[in-house]
Amino acid sequence: MLLKLLVTLVVLATATFALSESESASATTFPDPLPLTGPFFFVHDPSLVQRESDGKYFLFTTHDKAGIITATNLEGPWTEVGSILPNNSTIQLPGRDDIWAPDVSFHHDQYYAYYAVSTFGSQNSAIGLATSRTMEPGTWVDHGLVFNSTTGDAFNAIDPNLSIDEKGKPVLSFGSFWDDIFQLSLTDNLTAVTSAPIGVSFNSTLPNPEEGAFIWKHDEFYYLFISSGLCCGFNASALPPPGNEYKVFVGRSHSARGPFLDKDGVDMRQTGGTLVLGSHGNVYAPGGQVIFTDRKTGKDVFVYHYVPAIDSPAPFDDEFSSLGLNGIDWSSGWPVLTEL
Ligand SMILES: *[C@@H]1O[C@H](CO)[C@@H](O)[C@H](O)[C@H]1NC(C)=O
Ligand SMILES: *[C@@H]1O[C@H](CO)[C@@H](O)[C@H](O)[C@H]1NC(C)=O
Ligand SMILES: *[C@@H]1O[C@H](CO)[C@@H](O)[C@H](O)[C@H]1NC(C)=O
Ligand SMILES: *[C@@H]1O[C@H](CO)[C@@H](O)[C@H](O)[C@H]1NC(C)=O
Ligand SMILES: *[C@@H]1O[C@H](CO)[C@@H](O)[C@H](O)[C@H]1NC(C)=O
Ligand SMILES: *[C@@H]1O[C@H](CO)[C@@H](O)[C@H](O)[C@H]1NC(C)=O
Ligand SMILES: *[C@@H]1O[C@H](CO)[C@@H](O)[C@H](O)[C@H]1NC(C)=O
Repeated sequence: MLLKLLVTLVVLATATFALSESESASATTFPDPLPLTGPFFFVHDPSLVQRESDGKYFLFTTHDKAGIITATNLEGPWTEVGSILPNNSTIQLPGRDDIWAPDVSFHHDQYYAYYAVSTFGSQNSAIGLATSRTMEPGTWVDHGLVFNSTTGDAFNAIDPNLSIDEKGKPVLSFGSFWDDIFQLSLTDNLTAVTSAPIGVSFNSTLPNPEEGAFIWKHDEFYYLFISSGLCCGFNASALPPPGNEYKVFVGRSHSARGPFLDKDGVDMRQTGGTLVLGSHGNVYAPGGQVIFTDRKTGKDVFVYHYVPAIDSPAPFDDEFSSLGLNGIDWSSGWPVLTEL
């Protein structure tokens, strides 16, 4: 136990040193996430939705068959109440009993949850859809396959995010590694695909580590956020080189379909991206990000998961992946995180 703590501290010191060397030019600092009350709960690839009828917060996570966690205050306590698909996905692929990255949004008087069926490192993947009128456990109806990928495709059909473009048409962003982030057009009833995938973001540096895309409209721009780097499976005594763990980049466009350019005008298809959030303090490998507007306060909230680097029974162990909540200052036209 002591030995482990010592090793962790040494690694932490090394990591901090390397970071301060490579990032001193930009002197980037990030605010800490909102402190939460109540017992620990696991979150990875969060989706956070406030119920239309009563403002209750519903948080959805990878694993636990797309776990549902609810609260009446953002600070918590958060309660694990069940799963979207307790009986597994109807999609007949490996991973149907452990679905990932549920993406929930409200359309046509119901909640749509796009989810991913896959296994780690595989392109034998699919995006599925379930719907519910209340988001409560036991109310989700599985509609099964929306889109899939197989070995040899340029893309991996996971990490879906639905958005509505400037013409009112649904567009599904998705992707993970290989040629990174793509978009598909959907039918107006949101259940089927009507186009081939089109690439919108690509990191040319191996291992081309972009995933977790989502699009958010603010004022006249559509912002494409991605998670870049390694999400999981960290070993506290052999962390990846600093900066190769998860972090969040953004680019923006006048169209939900891109092209998305970063602050320096670099196209995200050419490894562009402006850093929004990276590791700092207790926050390691933040990503899986989304935004929602809190109807209680009118504030936009930046929602993500991170692996606790210090404040954890097992620092850097992604089994303790936690919820991060911050505010957003949009005044520069680019999202800058604030305390909440
Ligand atoms: C879900 O999948 C698991 C693992 O394959 C299996 O044990 C379980 O019986 C399945 N549940 C249902 C309801 O089919
Ligand atoms: C997907 O994007 C929509 C808005 O475009 C947002 O409301 C929703 O939270 C996003 N969900 C995820 C999981 O990215
Ligand atoms: C899961 O399957 C059981 C047994 O078939 C059924 O009673 C239950 O309603 C199902 N749950 C959901 C959420 O579909
Ligand atoms: C996945 O897509 C391929 C064609 O791209 C198709 O042949 C295959 O049947 C699909 N798999 C599933 C599970 O739908
Ligand atoms: C959705 O719309 C498409 C055509 O736009 C149709 O083929 C399909 O049956 C519809 N699905 C549902 C569930 O209504
Ligand atoms: C973690 O890394 C150390 C140092 O490289 C290695 O000795 C150990 O076996 C690794 N642990 C696991 C679980 O892979
Ligand atoms: C591209 O990938 C490299 C290697 O993981 C990483 O260092 C870099 O930050 C990434 N850049 C973007 C914009 O994703």
